[in-house]
Amino acid sequence: MRISSVFCALFAVVRVTAEATANASASAVPANLVHGSYIVELEANESLTDFYNALSSEHGIKTEERMSMGSSSQIFNGASFKVLDSAGHDSSKLMDLIAAKLAVKSIWPVRTMTLDAGKTEEPKTKTPSQGSQKRQESHADGDDSSSSDTFMPHLMTQIDRLHALNITGKGFRIAMMDSGVDYTHPALGGCFGPGCLVEHGWDFVGDAPPRRRARARRRPLRRLLRPRHSRRGIHRGAGRGQQVRFLGRGPGAKLWSYRCWNCAGVGSNEILVASFIRAFEDGADIIQCSNGIYEFAGWGDEPWALVASRIAQTGVPVIVSGGNSGGRGMFNPSTPASGLGVESVAAVQNQNDPVFVSSGTYTTDEDQTKSEENVYGFFAGTPYPATALTLPLWAVGNDTESVMDACSPLPDDTPDLSDKLVLLRVVPDARASNCYPPDQGQNIRAKGGKYMAYYAYSNTSWDEQFVYTDGIEGVISVAPHQGAAWLEMLGRGVQVNVTIPDKNSTEEVLVELEDHETGGFAADFTSWGPNWELEPKPQVASPGGRILSTYPTAMGSYRVMSGTSMASPLVAGMIALMGEARGGKLDSKLFNRILSTTSKPLPLTKHDILAPVQQVGSGLVQAYDAVFAQTLLDVDALRLNDTDHFVADHTFTIENVGAEEATYEIGHMKALSMYAMVSTLSGDVLAGYPNPTVDSWAELTFSPDFLSGTRETNVPYLYSVVTIPAGGSAHIAVTVVPPQNVNATRLPVYSGYVSINSTREDEHLVLPYLGVVGSMRAAPILKPGSAFLANYGSPVDANTSYTLPRSVQDPSFEPGTDDDGRLPNMLVSPIMGTRLLHAHVVAVDEQGADKSGNNTMKTPTGVPCMGALAGWPKRYLAALNQRAYFLGLLADGTVLPPGSYRMVASALRIFGDEAVVEDWDVVGTVAFSIEYANGTASSR
Ligand SMILES: *[C@@H]1O[C@H](CO)[C@@H](O)[C@H](O)[C@H]1NC(C)=O
Ligand SMILES: *[C@@H]1O[C@H](CO)[C@@H](O)[C@H](O)[C@H]1NC(C)=O
Ligand SMILES: *[C@@H]1O[C@H](CO)[C@@H](O)[C@H](O)[C@H]1NC(C)=O
Ligand SMILES: *[C@@H]1O[C@H](CO)[C@@H](O)[C@H](O)[C@H]1NC(C)=O
Ligand SMILES: *[C@@H]1O[C@H](CO)[C@@H](O)[C@H](O)[C@H]1NC(C)=O
Ligand SMILES: *[C@@H]1O[C@H](CO)[C@@H](O)[C@H](O)[C@H]1NC(C)=O
Repeated sequence: MRISSVFCALFAVVRVTAEATANASASAVPANLVHGSYIVELEANESLTDFYNALSSEHGIKTEERMSMGSSSQIFNGASFKVLDSAGHDSSKLMDLIAAKLAVKSIWPVRTMTLDAGKTEEPKTKTPSQGSQKRQESHADGDDSSSSDTFMPHLMTQIDRLHALNITGKGFRIAMMDSGVDYTHPALGGCFGPGCLVEHGWDFVGDAPPRRRARARRRPLRRLLRPRHSRRGIHRGAGRGQQVRFLGRGPGAKLWSYRCWNCAGVGSNEILVASFIRAFEDGADIIQCSNGIYEFAGWGDEPWALVASRIAQTGVPVIVSGGNSGGRGMFNPSTPASGLGVESVAAVQNQNDPVFVSSGTYTTDEDQTKSEENVYGFFAGTPYPATALTLPLWAVGNDTESVMDACSPLPDDTPDLSDKLVLLRVVPDARASNCYPPDQGQNIRAKGGKYMAYYAYSNTSWDEQFVYTDGIEGVISVAPHQGAAWLEMLGRGVQVNVTIPDKNSTEEVLVELEDHETGGFAADFTSWGPNWELEPKPQVASPGGRILSTYPTAMGSYRVMSGTSMASPLVAGMIALMGEARGGKLDSKLFNRILSTTSKPLPLTKHDILAPVQQVGSGLVQAYDAVFAQTLLDVDALRLNDTDHFVADHTFTIENVGAEEATYEIGHMKALSMYAMVSTLSGDVLAGYPNPTVDSWAELTFSPDFLSGTRETNVPYLYSVVTIPAGGSAHIAVTVVPPQNVNATRLPVYSGYVSINSTREDEHLVLPYLGVVGSMRAAPILKPGSAFLANYGSPVDANTSYTLPRSVQDPSFEPGTDDDGRLPNMLVSPIMGTRLLHAHVVAVDEQGADKSGNNTMKTPTGVPCMGALAGWPKRYLAALNQRAYFLGLLADGTVLPPGSYRMVASALRIFGDEAVVEDWDVVGTVAFSIEYANGTASSR
């Protein structure tokens, strides 16, 4: 199991930061503009030195470079820099001035960002439900000498079959863009540098906040081993190293670690962009990233996504976690997963649910001859015995399906239970049976019992038990299969003595239970696509829910974790396997096509249909099929677009690269259709998950055109058959009729797959398609009520007066939550994402009418105004609330005099043209008046 170390290594990284920042995960929220600092991209042959010199000589603007960003790079020619005397320049004018320079391609302000709480380790307690009774248990104290790979995520993705062939990704360097690697971890090589598993790296953050000039360092470890605070408090470290030996190190791909977030989880857009460019220029073979920003979800040309996209265009695979915001519904691939050509990875639930539990021992009078004690795993309950105990087991009943164990007084012939450990089943539905643990405790107590051993009623419900009954002194809980095994022994008259270890000396054991409820299905936290311009996202899925993962050594070395952060490293590792097996050359476009077409579409829980492409892409990656693909397609997906831009006719080529002729049957597999919008009392809004579904699907017809390149016949087929000789290819024309029986206003997203099944054994390819019925451009971003003058979440009456403290005009002022009720602010709730959102200030006269005065400024729809609010506009936004604070300050540095104003939000429609008035949605606030706390305004 050589490469497992690589896979597991990668996601450890994110969780490190996660722990240090309390449950952070794969999403980040932009926080602060770094005043006077910008990222500039120059045209290809322009020089930065000339650019800085021109700013200085022509405009008197002195600058200092913050980070170089590949001035010689084929993907990006630019840098971040700071304007040294920025107080003398107003930001918006400065940006306009710089943007207008011929050498400048684009400019963005530098923003710091903080890793934000997202999906983390799932709670132990899950929703009780039936099912999942089958048990499987493994102590996973795997034997390093054994070559067989039993790591379930590898079995699910056929990686075990490649390991069996000694394909381990040898010779490839995977750059991990993250928060550093604990390379002291035994599974991660234990060292850093040439010859080590983690052989190269770069630390962009150190431990200083990136607000100051960022400095790049080598050695990307730093304080990860000593996180500042751990709020989770689970430190079951001891023993894991022994138990999880199957993660053992070995040859295979090497890791390069690029540390982009500091210990507090803070980074910046300049670091993210610079780190990707750096990894590319260092010559990384594969770039993998487990972070993303959902604030900018869904825009392929958001700067970070754009850089990732350009790297992928050069042929270097860029593999990114799709995000853990599944609950937010569709159109939510975080950036940079949203980039075109970037391989965005969704998460599938592990089929085995690994849990670390305490271990105890038991003896039976059957195994006198056996020298070893039997080991069982348990959750310590409350109360827990004060000292170690060995007690004979006695069962309340012998029915493993019992729903009422010890819910009524125990029979008269019950023995004295005071020196017994009483085995009973957890009541599956305590409310329905009106039987709670204290009731069970009472009934056991009545017969003298003091110690209870529960067994869970299902694998996924196995958890700690609490029994608050006077006299009950110890409670543990074991897995369903352990309870059943003990009952079976007792039923045969075997005596079982169970030892509950001393609390201070319990050891841990890894137990893996089959998960038949959620295992193998898409994880509910996985973020949904497509992007706003209907690019299919995510591309593929891989195991990411309940994965046994490496963890900082100081924090126990291993932990069970969930997230797309667990899913994308495995795909990055798979790319290395493909690279090795396919002769050493990586090609992102070819590999993305192979991954997409060889993956396995996933069924959907509770529906008799496939999970949609916008949730799982092509489905679960299949490493062996990808490596040994004998059939290649020339496209990775069919992009159908919306009704305005609908593309009905597509062609693709099937190439038979196998050694023999094969016959292919082309067909159609539909997936669940879902509405993007849901009707509410306040109109249609973007639906969260689960979205409303609709029983209407596209129809696909095919006409094969063997080796000619044009369509030969006008007769389409619902499915068709084509035979292709070895080395030959065929063109297939596909015509799509979108779903008919739908409400286009609610933007149904439909998807599915062209299926390509060959006569070769197990060769089933898929080609995903995705489209929307309706017009994305016609969908409003703002409607009346989408923006209003707010006091926290409530509208404020017209003509409210505010007194602004002068301090809010300090460039470093950042509004806090209190300010949502104190300062005038406009709460904007975009219905959809928007590429560009403006917030302008309009002066108002005493009658409440707009006062254009001698202003030449206008909003995009021509409303005369004073100018844009400081900090605005914002670009590439997801459908998330935005708050525009009125600080008396405009983006160009103007301080507004006391008086009456209103704010106006203008949002650009999806596929909208900035120059077209109709493509903007405009909503203004009521008027309000301001004065300043100390005197009148004066210009800064
Ligand atoms: C696996 O490959 C490595 C490197 O090519 C080689 O040294 C090793 O002997 C191989 N192992 C097996 C079991 O084939
Ligand atoms: C179980 O414990 C009892 C009482 O301590 C003892 O008599 C008996 O031999 C033990 N049986 C086994 C199988 O260990
Ligand atoms: C369960 O107990 C009942 C009555 O005590 C007995 O008849 C039955 O055989 C037992 N079943 C098993 C599986 O031990
Ligand atoms: C367990 O450890 C605690 C704290 O170190 C100690 O007070 C207690 O006596 C120990 N208990 C036993 C049973 O050794
Ligand atoms: C949909 O059409 C628009 C307009 O032509 C285009 O900009 C966009 O990229 C298209 N989307 C996809 C996924 O092809
Ligand atoms: C379609 O959806 C819109 C928005 O929810 C709704 O107003 C309209 O009544 C629906 N049309 C039909 C025919 O159901």
